[in-house]
Amino acid sequence: MDGNGRWARARHLPRTEGHRRGVNAAREVIADCLEHGIGVLTLFAFSSENWRRPAVEVNTLMDLFLAALRREWDKLHAKGVRITFIGDRSAFNEKLRSEMENAERHTEANRMMTLVIAANYGGRWDIEQAARQYAGACLKAGKVLSSESGISLQEFLSTHELPDPDLFIRTGGEKRLSNFLLWQMAYTELYFSEELWPDFGSKSLRAALEDYAKRQRRFGRTDEQIQAADNG
Ligand code: IPE
Ligand code: MG
Repeated sequence: MDGNGRWARARHLPRTEGHRRGVNAAREVIADCLEHGIGVLTLFAFSSENWRRPAVEVNTLMDLFLAALRREWDKLHAKGVRITFIGDRSAFNEKLRSEMENAERHTEANRMMTLVIAANYGGRWDIEQAARQYAGACLKAGKVLSSESGISLQEFLSTHELPDPDLFIRTGGEKRLSNFLLWQMAYTELYFSEELWPDFGSKSLRAALEDYAKRQRRFGRTDEQIQAADNG
């Protein structure tokens, strides 16, 4: 979800106003994804690198995050949305952490859609923390780190119970992954939109999904193999 700051600047508004509008865009996209029958939606809300921003902006983002969670979680719960968070929570304050746990606990059994919020998340952080746990598990089981161990790194990623993403959407015109789900996106279809995040709405999402629907996913196979499988 990129482009909140530029959206605000273009209107001579403070960046924080852009973030506020960004929350509205997120709410709309969540509702649309539910309607489209999308099983898992992951929103990159705050990266492990975003702490480098000015303190006022970081604080506003935290306040907005907390307010949105408090306001929205039970509405999402009523719609059958399960809410989970990925990322290093230890850096967040107690209030925010307990609100996150609260949303997770209450929505745990919901199955209409899983909403994953990546907060203080970084793809490299995820791989590193998984590697640490993986090594620990192998050691504990008295096994060497090899393919024969029967334990895989994948099991320790923060997304271990989720499918890999089919589609990645980045708004704001930048064409990079910015340390998002690096491991998980090995075969993800990438979609880049020039629109700034607060402007991204139902029509934009539909355009992205239509673009995705035209793509052929081969996962390393040939076009002929895929066609034969589709026909058989
Ligand atoms: C939102 O957009 C991303 C968040 C960290 C919430 P930006 O704040 O990066 O907006 P731009 O890129 O400055 O326009
Ligand atoms: Mg940005």
